[in-house]
Amino acid sequence: MIGRLNHVAIAVRDLAAASALYRDTMGAAVSAPLAQPAHGVTVVFIELPNTKIELLEPLGEGSPIARFLERNPDGGMHHICYEVEDILAARDRLKAGGARVLGDGEPKIGAHGKPVLFLHPKDFNGTLIELEQV
Ligand code: CO
Repeated sequence: MIGRLNHVAIAVRDLAAASALYRDTMGAAVSAPLAQPAHGVTVVFIELPNTKIELLEPLGEGSPIARFLERNPDGGMHHICYEVEDILAARDRLKAGGARVLGDGEPKIGAHGKPVLFLHPKDFNGTLIELEQV
């Protein structure tokens, strides 16, 4: 059911420093920062040959990654995103298998303009999972 790895998201305190690390030290193609107020984050996309890395910095009050950074002051891997062809069918299959969908269980439009859902990390080996319909 799940398809390709779409991205790995890393929460960071200092987006400029993290961008410089990936661009200058690791030699990656790094996008300009993109503020996404609706999601409470500013995002930088790093394009790799086979997937993407997203660097997430908190934006505004009540950012969904603020508490994560309190627990992980050096930053850390926040979630991984798998592609699915039919997000509602994927959700229903996962729920039937006992997985918990975060929020109200309805897909939201994510950072790439496509429907996404998040799955509870306790049901997936301690890893927050994002599903994106492609
Ligand atoms: Co994501």
